[in-house]
Parts: sequence; C-alpha cells; structure tokens
Amino acid sequence: MAQDPEIIIIDPDVSARSDTADVLAAGNLTVVGEADYGITAVAVAKEHPPDVFLVSMEEPAARAIQTIEMLGSAAPDAAIIVTSSLTDASSVRRAMVAGASDYLTKPLKPEDVTRAVYAILEHEERKRRNADGDLTDLVPRGTIITIFGAKGGIGKTTIATNLATSLARMTDANVVLVDMDTRFGDVAIMMDVAVDSSIADLGRRIDELDRDSIKEELVSHHTGVSILPAPPHPTEWRDLTADHIEKIVNLLAQGHDYVVIDTPGTFNEIIATTLELADIILLITSMDLASIKDTALALEMLRAANISDDKMKLIINHSTSANSLREEDVERVLEYNVTWRIPHDYNVSNSIQLGIPIVVAKPYARVSRAIIDMAHALSGTPKERKGFLERFLAKVS
Ligand SMILES: Nc1ncnc2c1ncn2[C@@H]1O[C@H](COP(=O)(O)OP(=O)(O)O)[C@@H](O)[C@H]1O
Ligand SMILES: [Mg+2]
Repeated sequence: MAQDPEIIIIDPDVSARSDTADVLAAGNLTVVGEADYGITAVAVAKEHPPDVFLVSMEEPAARAIQTIEMLGSAAPDAAIIVTSSLTDASSVRRAMVAGASDYLTKPLKPEDVTRAVYAILEHEERKRRNADGDLTDLVPRGTIITIFGAKGGIGKTTIATNLATSLARMTDANVVLVDMDTRFGDVAIMMDVAVDSSIADLGRRIDELDRDSIKEELVSHHTGVSILPAPPHPTEWRDLTADHIEKIVNLLAQGHDYVVIDTPGTFNEIIATTLELADIILLITSMDLASIKDTALALEMLRAANISDDKMKLIINHSTSANSLREEDVERVLEYNVTWRIPHDYNVSNSIQLGIPIVVAKPYARVSRAIIDMAHALSGTPKERKGFLERFLAKVS
C-alpha cells in the first residue's frame, strides 16, 4: 500500500480547497494537486494520476457527478472520495453510482479523512492482489469473537461458554470455543468435558495441522459446540508462541462459522494475537469501581494498539439495580457506549457447578435470555421468533 498516499483535491471553490488542504495536512496526508471540476480536473488527473481524489460535491450536484465519472475513466487506478454537506441517502447514492468509493460529510475531520484514505487504499490493494491471482484473502473464514476483560471473576468464561452454546443451538452454525485462558482455563470445567488433548498438543504438531486435521483434535460437546481446551497445566502455555496461536485460530476460522475465544484477565503476547485476529471483541466489565477503572485502561490499551472502535462491544455483566453505579456513569467515565448488559442471576453459579451452560439448564432465566439475544444480534438472526425457545429446548433435549 502507498506509504504516503498522493491526493488531489477537486473543488470549484478555491478557498474551500485550501481549507481542505489544511485538514489533510493535519491528518498527515500529502496533497499533490488541486483543480476545478470538468476538463481541468481531467487534465490534472492525466498528467499525474494520484492515489486518491477528494471531490467536493454540493447542490446542484450535476457537475460534480460528471467530474467523478470522467475521473474514473481518466485515472482508473485512483480512488475517489466525495466530501459533501449533503447528508441525504440519494446524494450518497448518486456519488457512489458515479464511481465514488467513500462519502465523507463536511465539516471534515482530519482523522476521518485519514482513516477513509487508508481504508480505501487497503481495499484497492486487496482487489489488485486477488486480480493478480493471490487468493489468500479469499479463503472463506468464519467470525472470530474474542471475549476480553481487564480482570478475572467478571464473567468472561460464563459469557464465552453460553454465547458459544447459544450460537450453536439457534443457528446451524459450526461453533468452536477456544480456551485461551493462560492461567486458569475453566472452559472444560464449565462445559463438563474431559481434556484428552489441548491447545498445547496442537502447538507441538503445528506444522502438520490443516483445517481438517485440526477438527479431529477438538472435543465435541453435546450442545454441538466444539471445544479446544486449555492445557491442564498452565506451564504448558510456555511452548506456545503468538505464531502458533495465529495459525491455530486461522485454521479454526476456516472450518467454523464462529470461533469464540475465552481469555484470562491478563495481557500477554498470546492474548494480543487473539485481539488482533478478532472480528469482534466483547469487552466485559462489571459495575464496581475497580473493574471500571481497569476497563478504562483496557480500552486505552486497545485503542493504542489501533484496534478499531467498530470491533469493540462493551458489555456490563452482573448488572442489577443494586449496583451503586448507573449505566450512564459507566458510559461517561469510559467514554464508550454499552452495547449489551447481562443481568446478575443467582442461577449462574448453580449451572456452573453442574457443568451445564445456563442457556441450556435454564433457557428462560433472565441471564439466558440476555445472552441468547446477544447471540441473535451477533449472528444477525432475528430475535423473538415465535416458538424459538421451544425449538431451542427441543434441540437441547
Ligand atoms: N451474570 C451473572 N450472574 C451471577 N453470577 C455470575 C454472572 N456472571 C458470572 N457469574 C459468576 O461469577 C464468577 C466468575 O465468573 P467467570 O465467568 O469465571 O469469570 P472470569 O472468566 O471473568 O474469571 C462465577 O462464579 C460465576 O458463577
Ligand atoms: Mg475465566
């Protein structure tokens, strides 16, 4: 990808061009030219095709649209980003149909422009590689969901086991649950399965593994979930590197619709890998002050690692009216919206003792409903389908 992408600004308004150039400079982007609509734009484009055109579009949009179409022919390898104060869907649609790859509304923010430019270039680069016959990006891959939290005892494993079970039960998806808790590894206990082979055994045979042979190493749970347990002894993690974890998770993702990863309340190289690979990170917090303080640090760390906010969903566990903090307080302190809340429910500890996920043991319990709803939202399947719970129960029994 272009390290220092070249950008040309197209805008009939000369003073607006220099404002846009200032915004780009603030976003560390290099402007290599600017022009009016129409023939001038095309001349500039032909003389020095940039990586990206930033085209301003205001009402009446006809000339901007015509210019976007002409730029597409004059410099077919350059991407076009439209900037506009028009926010209606039909303006966005017209720009896209004419050939724009992205649409930013004014006033422009440097970080938004920078993000848009790099996202488009990355996309174009991937398209080019695929066209060149490098099809590595085209291998179908399931969704990787990493359950993360700043400390232990906040319900990560409870949520991981029940979410994996819900996903397997309500869709006919293949789900694998990976115990990446490098300290305690409670998944096997919570799901009541015996550990014959663990992720550490996979590490020892890493070179022989492929997407089919790895499946033979998984434990089948009666709920339909496949489980990759943690090693019985935490010292066995020492032989696993970030490269091992990356390969294992990628192979699992090639053979499963969902890879749900449980993590410890600590941070290390292995956990960093699971966060980088994740399509969705569920960041779990409880409502006490210590947990919120730790969650604030975790959020800061995830952002510093350039993990995009789109991937991160904040979840409050143990939420009860008895919590001294309110959800609004949590959102204000963390400057982050809460996506889901899982109620506190005394049935949870009972089901853990029985080794049965609560969504199976007590599907009508409030905590089960909350986790099943979350699974619906994550999988994009409609919730509250009539008779769903009956079907859920029928499948389980
Ligand atoms: N929503 C909940 N309601 C009641 N108890 C819960 C809930 N979530 C977790 N627990 C309890 O909290 C304890 C810690 O949960 P666990 O999932 O092991 O946390 P972590 O994996 O973050 O260490 C468990 O004993 C579990 O029973
Ligand atoms: Mg745990």
